Amino acid sequence: MDFVLQKTDASSSARVGLITTDHGQIETPIFMPVGTVGSVKGIHVRDLKDEVKAQIILGNTYHLYLRPGLDVLKAAGGLHRFNAWDRPILTDSGGFQVFSLSHRRKLREEGAEFQSHIDGSRHFFSPEGVMDIERVIGADIMMAFDECPPGDSDNKYAKTSMELTHRWLKRCVDRFDSTEPLYGYSQTLFPIVQGSGYRDLRTQSAEYIASFEREGNAIGGLAVGEPEDVMYEMIELVNNILPKDKPRYLMGVGTPINILEAIALGVDMFDCVMPTRNGRNGMLFTSQGIINIKNEKWKKDFSPIDAEGHSAYDLMYSKAYLRHLFVAGEMLGPQIASQHNLAFYLWLVGEARQQILAGTFVEWKDKIIKQLGQRL
Ligand code: GUN
Repeated sequence: MDFVLQKTDASSSARVGLITTDHGQIETPIFMPVGTVGSVKGIHVRDLKDEVKAQIILGNTYHLYLRPGLDVLKAAGGLHRFNAWDRPILTDSGGFQVFSLSHRRKLREEGAEFQSHIDGSRHFFSPEGVMDIERVIGADIMMAFDECPPGDSDNKYAKTSMELTHRWLKRCVDRFDSTEPLYGYSQTLFPIVQGSGYRDLRTQSAEYIASFEREGNAIGGLAVGEPEDVMYEMIELVNNILPKDKPRYLMGVGTPINILEAIALGVDMFDCVMPTRNGRNGMLFTSQGIINIKNEKWKKDFSPIDAEGHSAYDLMYSKAYLRHLFVAGEMLGPQIASQHNLAFYLWLVGEARQQILAGTFVEWKDKIIKQLGQRL
C-alpha cells in the first residue's frame, strides 16, 4: 500500500490524499460502507460502484469467521472473489464485535474466549489467530486485534485495557510480518490507538502505535458513549502525534457532522453502520437535514426523495412512494433508503475533498453543518 499526502488545508488540519492498493486507488478523505458479512446490506456491488461511488468497503472478521467460515472463504479464493467486489476491502479485527456482540466473553492475556451470537458455539480469538483469519479473508487492509473498552471506563480499567491492546499489537505485528498473503496481492496491517477519554493514555497509546511505523494508523475506542467534545479532543490530541505522511482511520464514526469535524482535525478514513442501519429504519440524511420517511407528513408529497440527491433513485422515486414502501414493509424501501444514505455520505467526503483542494473547506463545513443539523 502507498499513501501520498496531496494537500493540507491552511485553515484546519484537513488533508487530501491518495491511497494505492493492489485493488485500486482510494481518494481521501473517504467513507467506507460497512459490509459486515461480506455484503453491504441491500446494495448490489454494481450500485455500490456506479451509484454510491464507494471506493473501499469494510468486512468484519468476527462475522465472516463465524459465517460462511474460513473453509468457504479459502475455497472461494478470498472475499473479493466470493462477493464480486474487486476494489479494496478493509477488515475489522473482531476486537470490537467480540466485546459488543458475542456472549460470555472471557478476556485473558492469550486472547478472548467467546460464544457466538448466532448459535452459542465457543470460539477463541488470539492476535495470531486473527491475523491468520484476516489473511484468509484477504483484505487489503487488516486491522490489529484490540480491546475497545466502554466509553465510561475509569482510568485504571482503560489503562489496563490499553496495555493489553499494546501487547496484542506486538503479537499481531510479529505474526503479520512472518506470514505471506494467500492470493497474490499485498496486504497491510493498521494498528489501533486506544486509551478511552484520557489524555495521558491517548498520548501514550498514539506514541506507541506510531513507533511501529506501519503504513497507516487507526483511532479506536471513540463514539462509544463518551461526550462528543471528549471525542474531538482525543482525535486532535492523537492526530498531533500520529505521523502526517500516513493515513489515519477513525473507526466507527459517525454522523455526517462528526465526519466533517473529524476531517477538519486531520482524519482521512471513516466507516459507520449509520447510513445503512438508519436507512433501513427510514431515516434519510440529506444536505438540507434529516428526514424520517415514515412520517405521515410525506404521505402525499410527490416531490423527489432528494432533489439534490446523489443516487439515481433520489430523483426517480417520490417521498410519498418511498414512505409507502416502508409502511407496507416492502424490502425495496430499506434498499432505496440505504443507497440514498450511502450516496450522500460518499458525496459528503468527496465534496470535502474538493473544498480542501479549493482552499474553501472551513467556510463550506461551517455552512453545511448548519443545514445538516436540521430535522425536515
Ligand atoms: N470499531 C469501532 N471502534 C473500534 C475499536 O475501538 N476497535 C475495533 N477493532 N473496531 C472498532
